[in-house]
Amino acid sequence: MRQSQGIEPGGRAGAPRTHTRYRAAAMLAAGALILGACTGGSSDGSSGADASAGGGEAGGYPDAQITFVVPFAAGGPTDTVTRLIAEPMATELGVEIVVQNVEGAGGTVAAEQVANAEPDGYTVLMHHIGMSTAPTLYPDLPYDPTEDFEPIGLVTEVPMTIIGSPNFEPNTMEELLAYVEENIDEVTYANAGIGAASQLCGLLFETATGLDLTEVPYDGTGPALDDLLGDQVDFMCDQTTNTAENIQSEAVKAYAVTTPERIEALPDLPTTEEGGIGDVAVTVWHGLYVPGGAPQEIVDALNSALLVALQDENVISSLADLGTAPVEQDRATPDAHAEHLQSQIELWRPIIEEAGVTAG
Ligand code: MLT
Repeated sequence: MRQSQGIEPGGRAGAPRTHTRYRAAAMLAAGALILGACTGGSSDGSSGADASAGGGEAGGYPDAQITFVVPFAAGGPTDTVTRLIAEPMATELGVEIVVQNVEGAGGTVAAEQVANAEPDGYTVLMHHIGMSTAPTLYPDLPYDPTEDFEPIGLVTEVPMTIIGSPNFEPNTMEELLAYVEENIDEVTYANAGIGAASQLCGLLFETATGLDLTEVPYDGTGPALDDLLGDQVDFMCDQTTNTAENIQSEAVKAYAVTTPERIEALPDLPTTEEGGIGDVAVTVWHGLYVPGGAPQEIVDALNSALLVALQDENVISSLADLGTAPVEQDRATPDAHAEHLQSQIELWRPIIEEAGVTAG
């Protein structure tokens, strides 16, 4: 499923969403309406900019709508972060930014689409930690994350939380572990497919506990959380950008946060270490990319706008409410991003290989 929503320079991307099933439905309807008002893009989501500019000179860039491709469903954590930073970036760049959700195969469908797009700066990928796990998870990955993209800069690093549906029996991590073990054939674990952060966290949970979970894959944890709120799946591990508000309002059961220390937005939530599964430790970093071969001037223009967006007061306070923060400015550079991507590929490869998980 694909959706686009325009963010005009100086416009409002919309406040981060609380995930009730009703709110998500309203948001999808709103997205469809705004799409109708966007005249700059073509139906396939391409920019409408002069393709002859691609890979050549960056002169005048940008002078047309830019598409930010999000590899998971609308209303989920990647979408939320993207819309937050797209707003000040659109203002800074002076053009409209359209967010396009291209779901599928744990984020790899979107990444392949952007890898094959014109390197003209009008198609930008927002991706997360999945950019570093996909090369190990997908033996036939149709792109190389380090060769086929130009990194623009890191954006944020988001803690994950282990949560349960409102009527799921366990109330604590200790109870969760005992309950899952006793009911292993019935319990369901939601994730966003192989390559998603929620899948990686589940893999760490399985390795730490020796339990083999029954996974229910979704196009993103936005729709997964909607089903969890409706008691249609039992538990999941998801980013605070998607779960913090529902944990604070006690709309879900919350068991642990996957950071070494408790976090300010959820001070009562124990860490996985406190819960006895300290190896379930992961934060979900996000970054922007353009297709490989994009001119340096385009990379620089997007990076400058990103650096401004990460200092935007609305971005900082919204991310704080959602349990995270923008990365420091010296990490939001193309070089720091490239180094981080490479080191994360190396970090996760042996862990995934040992778990024996592949998409093949
Ligand atoms: C999403 O945006 O739906 C998530 O980032 C999915 C995930 O990686 O778990």
